Amino acid sequence: MTQNTLDGALAVVILAAGQGTRMRSSLPKVLHRIGGRPLVGHVLDTARDLAPAHVVVVVRHERDQVADAVLGVAPEVVVVDQDEVPGTGRAVEVALEAIADFSGDVLVLSGDVPLLDADTLGALVGSHRAAAAAATLLSAELGDPTGYGRILRGADGAVERIVEQKDATAEEAAVREINAGVYVFRAAELRARLAMVGTANAQGEKYLTDVIGLLRADALSVAASLTTDVSLTLGVNDRAQLSEAGRLLNARTVRRWQLAGASIQDPATTWIDVTADLAPDVTVLPNSHILGASSVATGAVIGPDTTLVDCEVGERAVVRRSDATLAVFGPDSLVGPFAYIRPGTQLGAGGKIGTFVETKNSTIGDGSKVPHLSYIGDTTIGRRVNLGAGAITANYDDIAKHRTEIGDEVHSGSHNVFVAPVRLGEGAKTGAGAVIRKDVPAGALALSVAPQRNVEGWVENHRPGTGAADAAARARSAQKADDGAQEEREG
Ligand code: UD1
Ligand code: CA
Repeated sequence: MTQNTLDGALAVVILAAGQGTRMRSSLPKVLHRIGGRPLVGHVLDTARDLAPAHVVVVVRHERDQVADAVLGVAPEVVVVDQDEVPGTGRAVEVALEAIADFSGDVLVLSGDVPLLDADTLGALVGSHRAAAAAATLLSAELGDPTGYGRILRGADGAVERIVEQKDATAEEAAVREINAGVYVFRAAELRARLAMVGTANAQGEKYLTDVIGLLRADALSVAASLTTDVSLTLGVNDRAQLSEAGRLLNARTVRRWQLAGASIQDPATTWIDVTADLAPDVTVLPNSHILGASSVATGAVIGPDTTLVDCEVGERAVVRRSDATLAVFGPDSLVGPFAYIRPGTQLGAGGKIGTFVETKNSTIGDGSKVPHLSYIGDTTIGRRVNLGAGAITANYDDIAKHRTEIGDEVHSGSHNVFVAPVRLGEGAKTGAGAVIRKDVPAGALALSVAPQRNVEGWVENHRPGTGAADAAARARSAQKADDGAQEEREG
């Protein structure tokens, strides 16, 4: 991060008023997300790293949605409305009206160019000031420059003007050096030239890019800083570019955590939001998504095939082939394979939520286990509890949700239903197949299944001639022969 290098006054203008037609979306383009954050959020984040005197965001299309998203994460920002005059030039013009007294350098960014970093921008501003240029822009050479404005240079190599794709001649369109849409201007020169820009072009818009030609016409210097990292300048205009930007951002995030000490086996199938946090010596196996505000402590193993949204994973915990949202897994706990963990789940140290288990709004204490085939909702489980396979909390009676409370050291038999509200006291045990409708006192054994009664010969009497009856008859005569031989031996 570049800090304290920008001693002169800097204002950042972020353009976010365009419609984003090519996205074909009801959601404003700059609110589409990559790495868990809207495009404009990435740009805001980078802008704030520069510690500028002002940040101005220009809105128009779906202005309330965009303004709310911006002010939600950056309340200090000045949001300005663009009027009916279209184009990036007009957008910057209205932004400057909001900071009329400002006379330093103006850094213009686009809300749809999300991968720029503060180091690159800091260097751009630094070189602009060192060269005392009227404008400095960021350019890149692309194999396929389609859609971008082209940088046209004179015989001496100096930047002369920028031509938009839609206004370019075939010869101009063949130029592969493109305008990244990132510029630093001296405020006064910029204001004066914007007032002169018209809308006589293929799109009928007031182009910010026309300012470059106007500065050069007055013999003012315009510098272009050519970046070799073309990912930095990627503009998102359609969904294909959105996924490409998301992939590049993710690659950057994965690499950052690898260099910080996380073992990430397969970067191509591991997706980590920019807001997630991984400690050193975490292992992430393929096909894993670590999203939102998730944090993973040292020694933990995530994956394969695991999605974590806003989860806190403790030291040495293992979460395999599972899907979890808003959950806390204690140190040394085990989750999965095939667990579905819903919001409000808290698993204690050394606890286990096993295979085909769904949990929700439940606390499972230290050392407690729900190993197989269970639904645990609205439940508080104490320490060192073991629930047998097929434990179901019946927490909903069609009207309201109720809680189940299970005390320390309870062991339940297989295939139990706990009909809430209900409480099992400390150390209680339950029989197989029990339906627990009443509280169980501490230390009691709860049985709710009627004693088993065997009706001898029922199959041969009621289902004669079936395979089952024949098998039973064979088994009974073999038993008789066995018993006879036994009697003879015993004499
Ligand atoms: C723009 C540049 C182009 C450059 C490209 C880089 C112009 C005229 N062209 O083209 O040279 O190569 O960016 O990505 O500037 N916006 C407004 N108000 C408007 C129109 C747009 O605020 O009236 C905002 C958009 O929301 C967007 C940004 O400005 O965030 C760029 O607009 P867009 O229409 O995407 O411009 P490009 O055609 O990509
Ligand atoms: Ca664009």
